[in-house]
Amino acid sequence: MKQFRRTASPGPDAPARLRVGVVGAGRVGAVLGAALAAAGHQVVAAAGLSAASQDRAQRLLPGVPLLPTDEVVAASDLVVLAVPDDALPGLVAGLAETGVWRRGQLAFHTSGAHGLAVLAPAQAAGVLGLALHPAMTFSGGPEDLDRLAGTPFGVTSLPEHRPVAETVVLEMGGEPFWVAETDRVLYHAALVTGANHLVTLVAEAADLLRTAGVDQPARVLGPLLGAALHNGLRRGDAGLTGPVSRGDVGTVAGHVAALTQRAPAAVAGYVAMARRTTERAQAAGRLKPHEAQPLTDLLDGVEVPS
Ligand SMILES: NC(=O)c1ccc[n+]([C@@H]2O[C@H](COP(=O)([O-])OP(=O)(O)OC[C@H]3O[C@@H](n4cnc5c(N)ncnc54)[C@H](OP(=O)(O)O)[C@@H]3O)[C@@H](O)[C@H]2O)c1
Repeated sequence: MKQFRRTASPGPDAPARLRVGVVGAGRVGAVLGAALAAAGHQVVAAAGLSAASQDRAQRLLPGVPLLPTDEVVAASDLVVLAVPDDALPGLVAGLAETGVWRRGQLAFHTSGAHGLAVLAPAQAAGVLGLALHPAMTFSGGPEDLDRLAGTPFGVTSLPEHRPVAETVVLEMGGEPFWVAETDRVLYHAALVTGANHLVTLVAEAADLLRTAGVDQPARVLGPLLGAALHNGLRRGDAGLTGPVSRGDVGTVAGHVAALTQRAPAAVAGYVAMARRTTERAQAAGRLKPHEAQPLTDLLDGVEVPS
């Protein structure tokens, strides 16, 4: 296969130096492009129109020309598709209509929610398509490149393409694990639940502390949330502490009353999480049914402020 043809330089098992094109130079694309360059490949072009993408390209892909998307694809052996999830199907299909995909090219996208199906128009033209999702958060800052080291990548590929996928991920510093095409959306929902909703929970907790007169919420939350994260990762539901785990209905009722009065926008989220915490605590044997029921009754009776 062309992209794994050996070269004379780095060693017998090193893949060939590929011409890499990055579409687009966003938070993820620019970082992965830089990682592939660091692995010895040549980033020949990138796409991105906004000032933010141009700035990122300048910082992370210095000297790489910004070209229209179809020209980036035409110039590349390996195409990195790092565009918003909803733009991906139209982009891949649109490029196929222009006839720019060609047999022997390698292309991967970085979407968590999409699998291989979205790449079908390119695969029909002979492209080897992969879904390589870094299970990491990228903000476009300089720390993103360091974060790639050891980042798990959720990979969906045809079985015969696994060695290719594995090589590309390892070259970017990541560690592949396999996700079935049919599990892809659920896989992504799991990560959003854990990572994105966590950020919302932390920001909400910090705001509530400020409302309660605490002027440096991060100092209070840091050690506590660090310990809670550690417990949750290590022990799952067994790591739960707090009033729900003890069946302290009065305390939860007090929280709902205080939130209704002082932070009404936070009531719905608190009630939803308390209900799910109750369900999980009961399923894990942390609460007996007779302890869980009063909590459920309380939460079902809460009138969420509109
Ligand atoms: N950010 C993360 O933490 C993260 C983590 C893992 C995976 N991902 C996945 O990586 C992908 C990219 O996310 P991101 O956060 O890097 O997005 P982003 O920062 O918003 O960058 C998106 C890039 O795609 C370009 N673009 C937008 N629409 C396009 C279109 N129709 N055709 C061609 N290029 C287009 C943008 O160009 P302009 O600047 O010109 O608009 C920009 O360069 C998504 O699938 C996302 O789910 C993101």
